[in-house]
Amino acid sequence: MAAIVGGLVSHVYNLVLSPFVTGPLLAAVTYRPNESQNLLSTYAGGFPGLGALDLKLAITALRLLFGVGLLRFINQNLNVRAANAWRTGPSKGWNWSEEIAVVTGGASGIGKDLARNLAGRGTKVVVLDIQDMPKELHDNPLISHYHCDLMSKDSIGAAAAAVRKDVGHPTILVNNAGVSQAKPILDQSEPYLRAVFGVNNIAHWLCVQQFMPHMIEKNKGHIVTVASIGSFVSLSSGVAYAATKAAALAFHEGLGVELKHIYRADNVLTTVVHPFFVDTPLIAEISNGLTDSGLTLLASNVVADAISERIWSKRGGQVTVPNSRALLSGVRAWPGWLQEVLRDIIGSGTRKAGEGRTWTIPEW
Ligand SMILES: *[C@@H]1O[C@H](CO)[C@@H](O)[C@H](O)[C@H]1NC(C)=O
Ligand SMILES: *[C@@H]1O[C@H](CO)[C@@H](O)[C@H](O)[C@H]1NC(C)=O
Repeated sequence: MAAIVGGLVSHVYNLVLSPFVTGPLLAAVTYRPNESQNLLSTYAGGFPGLGALDLKLAITALRLLFGVGLLRFINQNLNVRAANAWRTGPSKGWNWSEEIAVVTGGASGIGKDLARNLAGRGTKVVVLDIQDMPKELHDNPLISHYHCDLMSKDSIGAAAAAVRKDVGHPTILVNNAGVSQAKPILDQSEPYLRAVFGVNNIAHWLCVQQFMPHMIEKNKGHIVTVASIGSFVSLSSGVAYAATKAAALAFHEGLGVELKHIYRADNVLTTVVHPFFVDTPLIAEISNGLTDSGLTLLASNVVADAISERIWSKRGGQVTVPNSRALLSGVRAWPGWLQEVLRDIIGSGTRKAGEGRTWTIPEW
């Protein structure tokens, strides 16, 4: 129910903020006031208040909506262009049946759905994962699997060498694998901290070091960083995770700048993905708390669809899932008090793990 209402609200929002809707309406009421008034009375007469709506008020409202909508439209276009080396169109030279995509953590969750999507267009998909492949991907001749411990440089290096030898040079790299644990800072063990920063961050560097040089040489590629809405909001009992996702965003932004100015390969696209809470094994231990506090969890295939659509669009940029939450990326510009309120609310579901305990100094 909440999802339906949310969808409806976002459709209405997109409609009233579309300059292609408000523009013609504004022109109609400005240049054909009598006909507009008649139409309004005929069609909106049944709604109390609307039939008698003052045209002047309608003009003011439409001018405002048109102005805001036009700025939003220009802003969105500039965002897409800026993220794509100011190109007007999509990047060229892609043929999905000839591409090779590496998906880290592709044996479950978002990565598994993404692997299936990409293979659906004929792309060879290489899954790097410490877990075994699920049955449903096992039989797909386009999907191969390399056991890889993303915390280990040697393991990543060996897997990458095997991929180049067996399959070829990848043109798409999706740094998707993630580790998470819902515990307060005082409970997060050192091995966990090494794992979460290792898999969620350092592996991004190491995989890019293995696979990007060939993309630079060909000036073609797409590197997708799967971050999180946690890039913008630090959660109580999920601080290490949020820290790695903020770092993942910084990685993505810096990677794009380096591709333009240092490697001179502006046809290597970069995309960052910020999903809201996704119903995957990663958050199994906190998902009840989250749904109890009124949050809706996303299905992993919704996120995978958004990522594959972005890859197929041949454009890089920022993807927020669901798109209606895109405004959350502006959280850092909110007044401090409002950010604090947001952290209080969003964290209410995740912090149950440690509430009301006592703490001792660990013995090392
Ligand atoms: C529009 O309506 C006003 C008042 O009802 C009238 O004076 C005016 O002539 C009309 N204009 C046109 C173009 O029909
Ligand atoms: C894409 O690659 C396939 C397989 O190599 C080839 O048959 C096809 O013609 C290519 N399509 C384009 C548009 O180049």
